[in-house]
Amino acid sequence: MSELQTPLNDLGTPRPREALTRVSLEIDGQQVQVDAGSSVMRAAALMGIKVPSLCATDSLDAFGSCRMCLVEIEGRKGSPASCTTLVEEGMVVSTRSDKLEKLRRNVLELYISDHPLDCVTCPTNGDCELQDVAGELGVEDSRYGLTGSNHQHAVKDESNPYFTFDPSMCIVCYRCVRACDDIQGTFALTVDGRGFESKITAGQMESFMESECVSCGACVNSCPTAALEEKSVIEIGLPEKSTVTTCAYCGVGCAFKVETRGDEVVRMTPYKDGKANEGHACVKGRFAFGYTSHKDRITTPMIRDSIDESWRQVSWQQAIEFTARRFREIQAEYGRDSVGGITSSRCSNEETYLVQKLVRAGFGNNNVDTCARVCHSPTGYGLKTTLGESAGTQAFDSVAKADVVMLIGANPTEAHPVFASRLKRRLREGAQLIVVDPRKIELVNSPHVRATHHLQLLPGSNVAFVNAMAHVIVTEGLADETYIRERCEIEAWQSWLNFIRGEENSPEHLQSVTGIPASELRAAARLYAEAGNAAIYYGLGVTEHSQGSTTVMGIANLAMATGNLGREGVGVNPLRGQNNVQGSCDMGSFPHELPGYRHISDPEVRGLFENEWQVKLQPEPGLRIPNMFDAAICGDFKGLYCQGEDIAQSDPNTHHVEAALKALECLVVQDIFLNETARFAHVFLPGSTFLEKNGTFTNAERRISRVRKVLPSRSGKEDWEITVDLANALGYPMNYSHPSEIMDEIARLTPTFSAVNYAKIDALGSIQWPCNEAAPEGTPTMHVDEFVRGKGYFAITGFVPTSERSTRKYPLLLTTGRVLSQYNVGAQTRRTKNTAWADQDLLEIHPVDAEDRGISSGDWVGISSRAGDTVLRAVVTEKVQPGVVYTTFHFPLTGANIVTTGNSDWATNCPEYKVTAVQATRVTQPSEWQKQQAVFNRQQKAFLDKARRSGV
Ligand code: SF4
Ligand code: SF4
Ligand code: SF4
Ligand code: FES
Repeated sequence: MSELQTPLNDLGTPRPREALTRVSLEIDGQQVQVDAGSSVMRAAALMGIKVPSLCATDSLDAFGSCRMCLVEIEGRKGSPASCTTLVEEGMVVSTRSDKLEKLRRNVLELYISDHPLDCVTCPTNGDCELQDVAGELGVEDSRYGLTGSNHQHAVKDESNPYFTFDPSMCIVCYRCVRACDDIQGTFALTVDGRGFESKITAGQMESFMESECVSCGACVNSCPTAALEEKSVIEIGLPEKSTVTTCAYCGVGCAFKVETRGDEVVRMTPYKDGKANEGHACVKGRFAFGYTSHKDRITTPMIRDSIDESWRQVSWQQAIEFTARRFREIQAEYGRDSVGGITSSRCSNEETYLVQKLVRAGFGNNNVDTCARVCHSPTGYGLKTTLGESAGTQAFDSVAKADVVMLIGANPTEAHPVFASRLKRRLREGAQLIVVDPRKIELVNSPHVRATHHLQLLPGSNVAFVNAMAHVIVTEGLADETYIRERCEIEAWQSWLNFIRGEENSPEHLQSVTGIPASELRAAARLYAEAGNAAIYYGLGVTEHSQGSTTVMGIANLAMATGNLGREGVGVNPLRGQNNVQGSCDMGSFPHELPGYRHISDPEVRGLFENEWQVKLQPEPGLRIPNMFDAAICGDFKGLYCQGEDIAQSDPNTHHVEAALKALECLVVQDIFLNETARFAHVFLPGSTFLEKNGTFTNAERRISRVRKVLPSRSGKEDWEITVDLANALGYPMNYSHPSEIMDEIARLTPTFSAVNYAKIDALGSIQWPCNEAAPEGTPTMHVDEFVRGKGYFAITGFVPTSERSTRKYPLLLTTGRVLSQYNVGAQTRRTKNTAWADQDLLEIHPVDAEDRGISSGDWVGISSRAGDTVLRAVVTEKVQPGVVYTTFHFPLTGANIVTTGNSDWATNCPEYKVTAVQATRVTQPSEWQKQQAVFNRQQKAFLDKARRSGV
């Protein structure tokens, strides 16, 4: 029987890791064939036979503690536990007999003697495995009574904002402990005491909030009783309906079941069949959905003539007509190229596709860009140049086959937590880790995980680092010459070889630049090159530099030189920040590329789109985001349609961005909240959350997954419908009745998507592109037999130091990153209970630097750079090295980007967020900019309040 046919949604124990053969056996008189290594419990479950159990679940290895799943096996003494007994050829198993029922009932009565018997009032009445087993065995009471010593009065832990732990309901099955250890890898839970006294505890007898718990919810998912329960279930009741969708936070793209009761979301539970997450989640996707119903949501369109005026609430028709008129007036006065649009990686593929289509076909120019400009645009450029495709090479599960993982400028436990859990599992199995990061990130040393090497490089020295690694590989004879000769351009390889062999690229020579001891770097290079399978995962610590594209190419060079591309367990893998960074790039959001990364200057490609869109397209690339800002300040660029992106907070050099936004004559913001950018807007078009619309997201492993509408749109329109209305009002006809039709158009026009459609995504669960005639079910691993560009290209990666260096005036280097509980600009997570973990951006400073400046943890610190200054609280920590300070950018009032500069990547203009020379001083009051912002914010809030009072 196939797993898809079984009526049971939990098979008790996991699929065997390596199933090489099949085994035939008989269970309750029926023959079954299953994978060798399966448990008897799993084999029975595959036949639809549910063996009573309490401590088993198919997301965790069998534990065998509850003694409920006993079976009889012909020729064996006693009653073995079916969860820990593996199938054998010819085995004859009985799961039911009078003796087994008696044994089970006896065990169950013992459990019940220490469990409240008030099922009717229990929040999980009807969704409790203990209750199910009791019902199945007909046990309603316990012969042992409830009067003996028990745990009925144990105190409930309600410290976590999202779930409770009620020890009186706990049957000490260890599922939560195993979930925290094996699935999440945090090891926050233990069992204290022995025998009857044993009890589950977080940390060292701490509350969940005081402990190491990161609130991933894995323990809650696995708890068979109400001991660990979502507060939302206790408050709202059990869900009635469930819809599978995709998380709208990070680029891992976890699949979830949205469980609803009426029009209310009760909980989000990670979907076991989701290939990106396999039933796991993090605190954001699992619990932080409260923003979707937050009172700050704007659901009525608003317009105004100037940002010094109050908003006026208007109908959709008025808002769309006003916008179209203003854009046409601006184009008539200042020319066709005076307007443009920005798509967002938080929006769906279909939405971003339509925005770029609107700009190219409706505005008649190519002034479209996306927020990937400020994060992973160097990935697109670097990987396209070297390998031929602007995307990561692997599926996430590939990491399970890696022997060595090199993590460069990425902090997955904070930014890509579910991938981090997979990685940690592989590391616990014995793979080795090289961390390349200026900060001591958690993976350098965390429970049961210790990096073999932490190369604590100085911000701005990435290219020097990759070159030094490559130098060691080629000069110590560690390159895979056979692979290179078969798979790469030999001429380019020879030129690169001559370049990289130079003494100027040796670790010894570059040590003073990178700060990495040469011997440590050499050891790391050997480890990477000599591993059977070595995989590179990288993040914004690679791309957000003046040489971001160069580092990406350098990373691809390392992988090609060692033959680590084209199979599982290896590869070059950008960890994408936002949910749809990959998709927004795929969909033609960059000014020079049509969907599928095809250059706008190519007449053949343009012809294809012109034919489908029935319009003439401009052959010249349009403005990038920074060019739009510059042009706005110069007076050449006057109108901007900004969908789902908060450029006023997320883009660097806030003074410059604000000046540009103020210079616009028509700024249209489409979002769910009146975000920072909307304070400068003339039109606000209320968007929908991911729960209120249909579409698709593409995650960091090129996986296209469905976003399914669960609730009606609060504004009355899904975001794609707004773009359609705007296009029609501008006189460019768009006509779709469902996002699936937009995807059909994308597939018609984009070779890598040609076999993608909604029916197929629904049938397969998700699809990794390329998905076309050659790969009708998608492509988990790229570049298998040859690179997409044919032969791999070794690009020369000369190191050019950034102009942003520490000086006497600005002696520290500021670098930025994220925290687990907050997401990007924080617009969503700041409006959830996740603020319990982080309610402000903090500045990390090394004790030596802090002492020099008389700074203690908790002090207000002024940070100034040549771009601007701001004030935030300090944390004195050795996570950062002397000379380096670090902060996050989740809170608008901190304004981390007031300090970051206009420096950017030479190839793509991706800002150099990761290196800013700053000074830090102890202060007592906010910066001038912060004071001005407070006034401006109060004024804009008053404008909004007035509009709300007046109504439409
Ligand atoms: S929520 Fe996650 S991290 Fe916290 S105890 Fe449960 S499994 Fe562990
Ligand atoms: S809290 Fe739940 S999962 Fe953990 S031991 Fe108790 S009953 Fe089992
Ligand atoms: S890891 Fe990313 S995609 Fe998964 S639940 Fe967390 S935020 Fe969502
Ligand atoms: S389910 Fe097998 S011993 Fe608990």
